[in-house]
Amino acid sequence: MSFIVAMDGPAGTGKGTITSLLSKEMELVNIDTGATYRCVALYAVKNGIQLEEKERIIDSLKDINIDMKNEEGTQKVYLNGEDVTKEIRSKEVTKIVSQISSIKEVRFAMVEVQRKLAKGKDVIMEGRDITTYVFPNANVKIYLDAKEEERAKRRYIENQEKGIEMTYEEVLENIRKRDKNDREKEMGALKIADDAEYIDTTNLKIEEVKDKVKEIILRKRGK
Ligand code: DC
Repeated sequence: MSFIVAMDGPAGTGKGTITSLLSKEMELVNIDTGATYRCVALYAVKNGIQLEEKERIIDSLKDINIDMKNEEGTQKVYLNGEDVTKEIRSKEVTKIVSQISSIKEVRFAMVEVQRKLAKGKDVIMEGRDITTYVFPNANVKIYLDAKEEERAKRRYIENQEKGIEMTYEEVLENIRKRDKNDREKEMGALKIADDAEYIDTTNLKIEEVKDKVKEIILRKRGK
């Protein structure tokens, strides 16, 4: 039996950082589900497939193989055997990923990949529809939130540290567009599950959020 910690929320709420820290502290396998959609978006960028070419995007799914590995404490993402951990965070990918993830066929395929990556393991998984669709019966369900401007500020700083060049205004605009698209998706839309623990992180430091989430997991794990 696997133990599943599911975490959802919009971009910039700290989901990635929290899952990465807690996966190490609590021996949980970290699965970044957004990375699977980013791989499909990267494949389109690399192969000159445009957003309007829905059929080509759907057709490309059969040629896409995604894997995630934990190497020396950091999570690496592989697309068809190539390490794309950094590339999937590029501006080009970030711009189109929400729309790519709105395609029903893409969602069906990626949810299958995500469930397969989690199979038989104790995992901590973050995304937009993990608590509601991918693992509606997860042992722990958490929804992280924060004010839009604060999320943009965090993402802007993170991008700078990673050498991704985007102005604060560009980041904010991108977050607004993605939020809207992510919330209005026909399938797998971002919403708060009735039984999720809601945490507003706007005024919290990352350590404080981590401690809150850890406390919830420990309570549910019964340890
Ligand atoms: O978490 P992220 O920014 O890497 O996610 C990239 C995009 O993928 C985001 O705009 C929404 C989408 N996504 C999704 O639709 N469902 C998920 N479970 C995870 C991400």
